[in-house]
Amino acid sequence: MKGDVLDVEVYGASHAKAIGVKIKGIPAGTVIDGDAIDGLLSRRRAVRAPWSTPRIEKDEYLFTSGVRDGVTDGDTIEAEIFNTDVRSGDYGEFMNVPRPSHADYAAMVKDGTREVAPGGGRFSGRLTAPLCIAGGIAEGILKEKGIFVCAYVSSVGKAEGRSYKDGVPSKEEVLEAQRMPLPAITNSEEMLEEIMRAASSGDSVGGTVECVVYGLPAGIGDSMTDGMESAIAASVYGVPAVKGVEFGDGFSLSRMRGSEANDPFAYENGKVVTLTNRSGGINGGITNGMPLTLRVALRPTPSIAKEQRSVNVLTGENVILKIKGRHDACIVPRAAAAVESAVALAVLDKILAEGK
Ligand SMILES: Cc1cc2nc3c(=O)[nH]c(=O)nc-3n(C[C@H](O)[C@H](O)[C@H](O)COP(=O)(O)O)c2cc1C
Repeated sequence: MKGDVLDVEVYGASHAKAIGVKIKGIPAGTVIDGDAIDGLLSRRRAVRAPWSTPRIEKDEYLFTSGVRDGVTDGDTIEAEIFNTDVRSGDYGEFMNVPRPSHADYAAMVKDGTREVAPGGGRFSGRLTAPLCIAGGIAEGILKEKGIFVCAYVSSVGKAEGRSYKDGVPSKEEVLEAQRMPLPAITNSEEMLEEIMRAASSGDSVGGTVECVVYGLPAGIGDSMTDGMESAIAASVYGVPAVKGVEFGDGFSLSRMRGSEANDPFAYENGKVVTLTNRSGGINGGITNGMPLTLRVALRPTPSIAKEQRSVNVLTGENVILKIKGRHDACIVPRAAAAVESAVALAVLDKILAEGK
């Protein structure tokens, strides 16, 4: 993610010795919030649950540069995580057969190779672990300014849970949900059933994650591609498997009349507020002081146990692919922490750029 001030580069690959993140632009003298980092990493980590890959990594990280005694020194921050639970043999038999809808084929063309990168290479969801380290640093700084970024699962397959569209949840409700391995505010049992049904038939299922930013002042962001929506969308699309982003009522605004879609203004305790929040706290790319809300669509995990049609790019044949390997039947519960990190980094970048 390259912002106005922040430059965040996640590096490494699923089955490399290590993965990590380099962050430029965090002010010197910032106290690193280790709890925020650990919280995001543990929500992202695979758990022994029906939706989760059996690959369990401890995600122990080390700052190799830019942080001394828990405080930033102004140099590029660099944090590294060693991969410990790697099993590349799973890919041997189909090393020239791209998985449908994973990044395998597109990356082969781009990188000029005819081999699938083990574990998805740099496109693996594994790379969202270092993203969470950067996200935790950002959340720590934002918290000091009274700004809280909180994500939760709002649907899995056809099972819908509480959405901000039914009224923005309180920060406490979201934090409570985040204590659960499937961090939904309501209806997690039905979501779990959706996952079990998909997993038991060798399939996968997608869903949505919502994120609310509380405490953002009005007036942050600017027009067109300098806007808050543009910055957040660009950052969130960096999370693998994200295929859609909407702010506030998003796509459903296109089916409303202006009289339904507009958020009326009012004074409340001397402060301008809107009586509804269908615009998701942003007008013209600039925050309006209401909670910033967004909903993110995540595709079903591309790697499924069911047989699929693919091609062998070495032999030039059409083939039937039967994926072994270890994969999440549903990545949505773990992706919530990655989405939250991506949003926190984009928001912090705009705040730093405006000297707030
Ligand atoms: C936390 C997380 C875990 C993921 N785990 C897997 C996985 O086990 N198997 C898989 O095929 N894709 C997994 N993905 C998704 C792929 O990385 C992603 O679909 C792929 O890189 C193609 O990118 P795209 O879907 O954004 O086009 C995961 C994504 C995230 C965020």
